[in-house]
Amino acid sequence: MNNLNLIEKINELKEKRSAIILAHNYQLPEVQDIADFVGDSLELAQISAKTDAKVVVLCGVRFMAETAAMISPKKKILLPDKTAGCPMAEMVSVEKVREMKKQYPKAAVVCYVNSTAEIKAESDICCTSSNALKIVESLKNYKQVIFIPDKYLGHFLSLSSEKEFILANGYCPTHAKISSKLIDELKVKYKDAKVLVHGECTPEIKEKADKVLSTGKMCDYVQNSLKKDFIIATEKEIMHRMKKENPKKNLIQASPLAICPGMKKNNLEKILNVLENMKNEVKVDEKVELKARKCIDRMLLI
Ligand code: 13P
Ligand code: SF4
Repeated sequence: MNNLNLIEKINELKEKRSAIILAHNYQLPEVQDIADFVGDSLELAQISAKTDAKVVVLCGVRFMAETAAMISPKKKILLPDKTAGCPMAEMVSVEKVREMKKQYPKAAVVCYVNSTAEIKAESDICCTSSNALKIVESLKNYKQVIFIPDKYLGHFLSLSSEKEFILANGYCPTHAKISSKLIDELKVKYKDAKVLVHGECTPEIKEKADKVLSTGKMCDYVQNSLKKDFIIATEKEIMHRMKKENPKKNLIQASPLAICPGMKKNNLEKILNVLENMKNEVKVDEKVELKARKCIDRMLLI
């Protein structure tokens, strides 16, 4: 089936099932193009909670679908490819978090949304790259923060906060591939460019940033800025959305290597397949969900 036929069938089924399609900013261009909404982790969670649709096809990775499933228990959350995962989400174990909590009993546990439901169940509050500092600063009664799993985002937050940070050892392998030498070269070539860097990049890359932002806020920044040139240090596919929204701006990808394999697993065939067969529903174990949901709900209230 060609893409036009696939799109037609997807749209027919979307109506029949009362479904919406949400896509993360790193999804393949053809997936972004058929989505009802394209955005960052926080935006996808907020929309899946608010929508009246009965079915949400979540084109992203598993932790995003799990988050949506926990905050919208009455909706069916379908992940087009069941194996679409985020390696960072698996980089800290429940045992490790319990050990850290034992060692720092007075610390609040803040977990980045890129984590499993089991890890969220061990945490006090969740955050995304878009709201992380606001979440940390909302913890007025805590002087210490255990931040899991992203050590680079945690380190960045610690630079703007008075609190003591205890960091886990996780990181994003995709963002770790962005080379600082390449950014230096691009900065020489495009002297007037603004450098936008994702919070998951290494501290060395962040030192070169004009702004450290979530994927959604990067898109907003480019749209609202009067500047023409931008060096974008995050996953490749965000360039599709940015170029569509800003056809006259000069958008330069900081690294051709920054490709997230998990995000590339969803495609039009798989979206059609889940809508046809209503399969790959993402559900979280009830006991885990009860605790993990609190951690997400607290974030959504702030
Ligand atoms: P955002 O919330 O900024 O979209 O980030 C999600 C993610 O996984 C980035 O690697
Ligand atoms: Fe996970 Fe990195 Fe992919 Fe984001 S880009 S989903 S953090 S592996």
